[in-house]
Amino acid sequence: MRGKNILIGVTGGIAAYKVVEVASRLKKSGANVKVMMTRNATEFVSPRTFQEITNNAVSVEMFGDAANFHVAHIGLAKFADLILIAPATANFLAKAAHGIADDLLTTTILAFDGKILVAPAMNTKMFENPATQENLKILRARGVKILEPASGELACGTSGKGRLPEPEEICAAVEKIFSAGRLSGKKILVTAGGTVEAIDPVRYIGNRSSGRMGFEIARAAVEAGAEVILISGKSELEPPNNLKFVKVEAAVEMRAAVLKEFDSVDAVIMSAAVADYRVKNPAAQKIKKSAETLTLELVKNPDILKELGGLKKSQVLVGFAAETQNILEYANKKLVEKNLDFIVANDVTAAGAGFGVPTNIASIIHRGGEVENFPKMSKVELAEKIISRVENLLAADKKFFPAENF
Ligand code: CTP
Repeated sequence: MRGKNILIGVTGGIAAYKVVEVASRLKKSGANVKVMMTRNATEFVSPRTFQEITNNAVSVEMFGDAANFHVAHIGLAKFADLILIAPATANFLAKAAHGIADDLLTTTILAFDGKILVAPAMNTKMFENPATQENLKILRARGVKILEPASGELACGTSGKGRLPEPEEICAAVEKIFSAGRLSGKKILVTAGGTVEAIDPVRYIGNRSSGRMGFEIARAAVEAGAEVILISGKSELEPPNNLKFVKVEAAVEMRAAVLKEFDSVDAVIMSAAVADYRVKNPAAQKIKKSAETLTLELVKNPDILKELGGLKKSQVLVGFAAETQNILEYANKKLVEKNLDFIVANDVTAAGAGFGVPTNIASIIHRGGEVENFPKMSKVELAEKIISRVENLLAADKKFFPAENF
């Protein structure tokens, strides 16, 4: 999001308070954020709040600034790479659909020919009203992106569809718009899930990976326009559409599948939880219980990512480091040893991070030493961030080439 100019239009709904966090998150992700509000919106949140969060003056009045009144809306429209309207009231949708420009916000929209994302929030009946649905259809047909409202308790005391989605979802949608098409023509290999190391025909050594992080990364890469190969170990999840899905079990199988594709891809994101060891001699028949103890001899599995680090030419390589202590130190060691462009590190013991949960708390450590520490966010949102960094590397051709020791 760095350097992106985002103009947020806040219209008069109770959900306006949630947009303070949206502005804050977008600003923290490196975007330049400006806010314009309708007069009604200022009844819910003070312009000063947005001003403090964004570090930019907030625009409300069309004619407030006598010196600039005739260019205010043009200036805002020129500034924006994207306009986000959140919350978008039924009244706003009606005006935008019909080109009514009776305040600064609607006038700016009319003067803008870039990307617009609208997040409607209102009472369920107002949302479902054919007039509102018709207006949404008109806006969609013009290329305006509409974020579906969430369902749940509404401020008006009823329950149903009409809630503003959570700030993190809104931010993920913004990021997705910027990334659309940025990976077209690129081929991305993603690994996911945990490997399964056979003990005998019915038992195995596995791990707690659900595959969710990798599946979301693959989905984000598809949405960014890439040709995607998803090589997955054990996972109960439904694979995303529009990609090549390869199911594997053991680490040695995953290695073979990855190596087969490696030469033809532009980037590899290894989010699979690959077992470090496998059973040396898996039994051909089911092991029957007899003695009080049973010893399994394990041998080391190949480190797939390290091997790719040695083989890589121009591919971007991304690894994961699931740690329980000394996170940055251990992750940095893996970054160097495996010759990666960046590594996504997380403390798998932290609440809301790691295996089997829909959220993660991660840091990205870049080859050059830069560290990005992210707050707790959904795996969907983290996947968008990972893909946007891969895009930047592929676009800027800033890839790290093998060091002397590789
Ligand atoms: N990885 C791999 N092959 C392995 C083990 C790990 O390709 N045999 C990849 C993982 O997909 C991940 C990264 O390497 O992207 C880090 O994996 P991790 O298991 O955390 O690190 P290890 O190097 O195995 O170190 P340790 O288990 O000692 O922490």
